[in-house]
Amino acid sequence: MKIEVKAGEIAKTETGAILVNHFEGEERFHENTEINAIDLALQCAISQLITRGELKGKLNEITLVNTLGKLPAPWVAIVGLGKRKELSLDRVRCAVAEACRRLRQKRIYKIATIPQGAGAGNITAGDAAMAITEAALLGTYTFRKHMTKPADYGEIERFQIITDDNSSLPALERGCQKGKIISEAVILTRDMVNEPANYMTPTNMAEVAAKLAQSHGLEITVLEREEMQKMGMGAMLGVAQGSRQPPKFIALRYKGKETDELDVALVGKGITFDSGGISIKPSEKMEEMKGDMAGGASVMAAISAVAQLKPKINVAAIVPATENLPDGNAQKPGDVLTAMNGKTIEIISTDAEGRLILADALAYAVKQGARAIVDIATLTGAIRVALGDTYTGAFSNNPELLSKVIAAGAEAGELIWQLPMHDDYKEKIKSEVADLKNTGNRYAGAITAAQFLAEFIGDTPWVHLDIAATSMSDKERGYSVKGATGVPVRTLVNLVLALAK
Ligand code: BES
Ligand code: MN
Ligand code: ZN
Repeated sequence: MKIEVKAGEIAKTETGAILVNHFEGEERFHENTEINAIDLALQCAISQLITRGELKGKLNEITLVNTLGKLPAPWVAIVGLGKRKELSLDRVRCAVAEACRRLRQKRIYKIATIPQGAGAGNITAGDAAMAITEAALLGTYTFRKHMTKPADYGEIERFQIITDDNSSLPALERGCQKGKIISEAVILTRDMVNEPANYMTPTNMAEVAAKLAQSHGLEITVLEREEMQKMGMGAMLGVAQGSRQPPKFIALRYKGKETDELDVALVGKGITFDSGGISIKPSEKMEEMKGDMAGGASVMAAISAVAQLKPKINVAAIVPATENLPDGNAQKPGDVLTAMNGKTIEIISTDAEGRLILADALAYAVKQGARAIVDIATLTGAIRVALGDTYTGAFSNNPELLSKVIAAGAEAGELIWQLPMHDDYKEKIKSEVADLKNTGNRYAGAITAAQFLAEFIGDTPWVHLDIAATSMSDKERGYSVKGATGVPVRTLVNLVLALAK
């Protein structure tokens, strides 16, 4: 899809469909001269639809009007943006995405839009352009790589953001550019998460990382099994020993300033398939466990977007990548492992593997001198029980960093809710034979998992995001489609940009 910002009048634009909007409960578009021009050319067809109550402007409502040769574009699409005072950037994103999918369904592949939402509330032209760009790219995302038959619709070829206000062109241009970079990162994450586990092994993840390093000028380190052994990553290797695929410990570095300090480390769980290991999972829906590397994919994608946006900050993306499988050499319940920071862990369930590989990855980030750490993991089914798939769960030892993460999420339309941590929960992960055990009882599972991770953080400001329920979706919603969502890539990019200020 080619996306461009162009000066001109939307009514006069030659394209497949021109996309305008209507706010719920408003009688006419007195404020919007551009829509008025279209309405007049169509002999008030649109305002009549409004008067008759057929066009209400409800959020995501889409009305298509044929222009019958009265305008250069054969169709006008009017998308409802809901009530003006309730408008948010995320509503713009959702509504435009729905409109793009509808037009694609009608085999309209050239679209021109006004800067939807710009000027309403506190939405700037730049933010609107970014949101619209994200909507067009993310809302029409498909993963058809392994399908031999074509879809029954094509692809949107051209998407133009048209303005008659020349002074807003630079801001629109910048917003569009940023939207493209960020969407590309989200799409990379979705592709990696949707990819079957036989196409996205730890080795494949390391190859993706190498390509990203190459194209965006990132430093890369990939540790092999022997090097992990030397570094004492016993928890990571305990998980990896049940798989024939060699584990990879991937670290990407972005340097946005002269000094060498590491301002923030993004650590992502990279289990490329989670069978549960010897504590094997039920087979129903086990295929979904190909997505257990969503955290890892999201930090790799986020740092490559950061490398293109070039903020003055130093960032690392750290991904312990391995399969969790039950072969003859697999670790067993009752085994004791020693993590990189020297703590010993009794394995109760080999299916609580995410916290094991993260134990070493967090200790590694601490050892690298990270001043702040954010980890992202499809860590527990319990987080879905607690929050459903609306909010990502957050845990932290540092309210300031946490509030920045939550704010970065809100800006992205990726909802994040804090859950508590408390020393009481530590009791549940005390072992009779080692420093820790890797599971608690069946209650507060997402919290005991976070409490376990905290053992490997020391005093470093830290936020843990449990994305087990939000990284994949079983329904189409706004700019997110079925399958991988790409959450929380946009949050991470926003966070890094905010931390750089
Ligand atoms: N990868 C799973 C968590 C998960 C579940 C992600 C559903 C996405 C969807 C994780 O490794 C796991 O198996 N967690 C266990 C922990 C338990 C053994 C303490 C779980 O949630 O059941
Ligand atoms: Mn598991
Ligand atoms: Zn897992």
